[in-house]
Amino acid sequence: MTASYDIRLATALDSLLLAEQRVAMFRDMGRTTPEIEQPLLESCASYFTTALASGEYVGWVAELTAPPRTAIGGAGVQFRPLLPRTDPSGQLLLVGREGLILNVYVDRAHRRQGVARRLMDTLIRWAPGAGIVRLVLHAAPDGRRLYESLGFFETNEMLFPPFTGATVGRSDAE
Ligand SMILES: CC(C)(COP(=O)(O)OP(=O)(O)OC[C@H]1O[C@@H](n2cnc3c(N)ncnc32)[C@H](O)[C@@H]1OP(=O)(O)O)[C@@H](O)C(=O)NCCC(=O)NCCS
Repeated sequence: MTASYDIRLATALDSLLLAEQRVAMFRDMGRTTPEIEQPLLESCASYFTTALASGEYVGWVAELTAPPRTAIGGAGVQFRPLLPRTDPSGQLLLVGREGLILNVYVDRAHRRQGVARRLMDTLIRWAPGAGIVRLVLHAAPDGRRLYESLGFFETNEMLFPPFTGATVGRSDAE
């Protein structure tokens, strides 16, 4: 049976939680080593503290309705400046902000019950009012069908290998 849960906006108090979810997401995608998890956690928590306060990042947390309101998932959007451009059809002028969807994560025990879909629905409904004219994400295999069912489609993005000496490499699926 699906446990009752609520979706709420993340606050500055959630920086560590969001960082933990991000590390768990990369772990489940097979994209961490035991050595990198702690520095990843710390640098992400630091990022969330700053970005939640500045408004660069907006996050949502799914948490069980019953006390102690344990968090079971989350998702977020990083605002990005958008150089005015056209849409894929070439007929629409896009002027506004781009939203990069990040950190879509649900605890294993609560998967396949529609939690990620509800988080994504919340985010997609919110985006136009926040001035977002373009929503992008990098799909991991677990989420691809969900995203497609919501209307996302593949584009032509390519990735350059991490630069030598980078402490934390760039990611192509977040
Ligand atoms: C990807 C992820 C967030 C999906 O979370 P979720 O809450 O399980 O997603 P949903 O339940 O909304 O949908 C997932 C699937 O469950 C199905 N589902 C939803 N409710 C269901 C139910 N009541 N019974 C059975 N299946 C159900 C959906 O149809 C969907 O199926 P599909 O993938 O075959 O299309 C989760 O698997 C996860 O955290 N994975 C690890 C991290 C990761 O890869 N994140 C994505 C980064 S891009």
